[in-house]
Amino acid sequence: MCGIIGFAGRVEAAPILLEGLSRMEYRGYDSAGIAVRSDNWGLQAKKAKGRLEALYGLTHGGADLDGPLGIGHTRWATHGEPNDCNAHPHISEDGRIALVHNGIIENYLEIKENLLRKGIRFTSDTDTEVVVQLLGYHYQQCGSMLEAVGRVLRRIEGSYAFGIICSDYPNALIAARKDSPLILGYGENGNFIASDVTAILKYTRDVSYMEDGEIAVVTAESVDVFDQELTPLDKKRCRVDWDVSAAEKGGYPHFMFKEILEQPEAVRKTVSPRVQNGRVALDGFSMTAEEVRNLSRIYIVACGSAYHVGVVCKYIWERLLRRPVEVCLASEFRYSAPLVDRNSLVIIISQSGETLDSMAALREAKRLGGRTLAVVNVVGSSIAREADSVIYTWAGPEIAVATTKAYSTQLVLMDLIGLYLGDLLGTVPGGEYEAILKGLAELPDKMRACLDQIQEMQYLGSRYFNHDSVFFIGRNLDYAMGLEASLKLKEISYIHSEAYASGELKHGTISLIEEGTLVVALGTHAALFDKAMSNVVEVKARGAEVLALTTERYRERMEKIADAAIVVPDTHPILQPSLGVIPLQLFAYYVALQRGCDIDKPRNLAKSVTVE
Ligand code: M6R
Repeated sequence: MCGIIGFAGRVEAAPILLEGLSRMEYRGYDSAGIAVRSDNWGLQAKKAKGRLEALYGLTHGGADLDGPLGIGHTRWATHGEPNDCNAHPHISEDGRIALVHNGIIENYLEIKENLLRKGIRFTSDTDTEVVVQLLGYHYQQCGSMLEAVGRVLRRIEGSYAFGIICSDYPNALIAARKDSPLILGYGENGNFIASDVTAILKYTRDVSYMEDGEIAVVTAESVDVFDQELTPLDKKRCRVDWDVSAAEKGGYPHFMFKEILEQPEAVRKTVSPRVQNGRVALDGFSMTAEEVRNLSRIYIVACGSAYHVGVVCKYIWERLLRRPVEVCLASEFRYSAPLVDRNSLVIIISQSGETLDSMAALREAKRLGGRTLAVVNVVGSSIAREADSVIYTWAGPEIAVATTKAYSTQLVLMDLIGLYLGDLLGTVPGGEYEAILKGLAELPDKMRACLDQIQEMQYLGSRYFNHDSVFFIGRNLDYAMGLEASLKLKEISYIHSEAYASGELKHGTISLIEEGTLVVALGTHAALFDKAMSNVVEVKARGAEVLALTTERYRERMEKIADAAIVVPDTHPILQPSLGVIPLQLFAYYVALQRGCDIDKPRNLAKSVTVE
């Protein structure tokens, strides 16, 4: 969480820092701050609780702070409540050093006690302030910033991406990273550091990715990178081909809405280059039939919505591969003594490629000797770089905290990978391979048909927005889809919502159904449609209001019994969740809109979860 940016250039830094922060606000948005160095004023810092707008106002769009060197931060609070004091940048006691941080310093209390004993005074509750005070202390001792940074890095434990400026260094900012993302950007009017490429895309597409343990010295003219022994390193530059406009709202009311609408095209981009001459052709990943046959285990490991993709896949892959597939929450994986060995395939799914739990799971899988494959959206992200192989979902930048197009592209990419592995094993049932590929090719058009129902979803949003509690019920793939639909609703509308496997209702949860309880009944899975209908009858008999989701084929039957029905086109059964989820994303969106929620930046959340 948190986004950091730094700029060393030949033009005013403050407006550039604010602009960059505005692109990264999705990473954290409870407070923000910038610090700029100028020859006239030395270090000047401004911080403001709340959204970035507050900082814009406080600094008059950056005009109040002059100087070509600066750092900025947008915060998702971990240590200390969101307020002005705890906002970054933090400043050393002598006022000479300013520092921004993304990550967590685990041994901060112990260091803080030492510094307090030396008489250093603290002004915040954060772990980060400990770093800047320690840095100030060592700088006073040794007189060299680089040397002082090296000493601090050897002392602290935890995860970090740092941006540091010092009033004694008019031209240079220093950056360091461990377990938190940090990129270097090479611009015309100066050079950058940033947590995320979208922050600097307006100014440059030439970037390098910092690795753990590296330290960078960035000036307007140069970017020098060192290892922890301060040995200079050669960094490879990459060109980012993301479209700048893809990271902008472009007239849409919310990023989430725009990203929902982008799904057909994103899915087409993810699928179509990977189907050649009627076969799945995966870039960056291949296995032999023997290697697949020898697999002892297949794990899919992820968090949040990406985990829900894994749940859908378990149903699909076990059908295509006739092999057990384990889906694990990344936050649990490394603490559960996973049975990974050299014959295991561990697939990590992540939009950002920076989720700390997913990264830790990846490292654990590698440590145990497993073969790792990352399914990631952000090119060059940490998970993408550390996994043995990576296949990218080509969804483009996703800005809204609630994922939509990343989920959809992950789903279809996992369908392709499942087909690929099943084909190698020879276990895909006769005719299914071709039928699924045909279904995937038709998916973008059918997704567009789902998006044609925007008005109906708007109406349903206004009909149901004032419910306090919602249950999504379904069986098999419908249950898996319900997990995602329920998360979407709760994270942006703050309505309590649960997804239940319908068959489980009578084992406890049905006692919560009373007059008027909203139940979203998912009945798109053809093989279990009759059972889905029985569950609708059961909850209706107990007074539930039923909003159903089904396919054209079952429209008539469902409409007779449910209070309202959403209908999506029929497709191959294993692809049905890719269609069903779309109106449910829209439903969550319109419910949240009716409730006046901050859709793109829901409370307490951040897009990229880089803390445990
Ligand atoms: O970047 P990742 O895909 O690793 O993120 C995983 C989850 O944090 C993410 O899917 C989260 O659940 C979304 N906010 C859900 O909309």
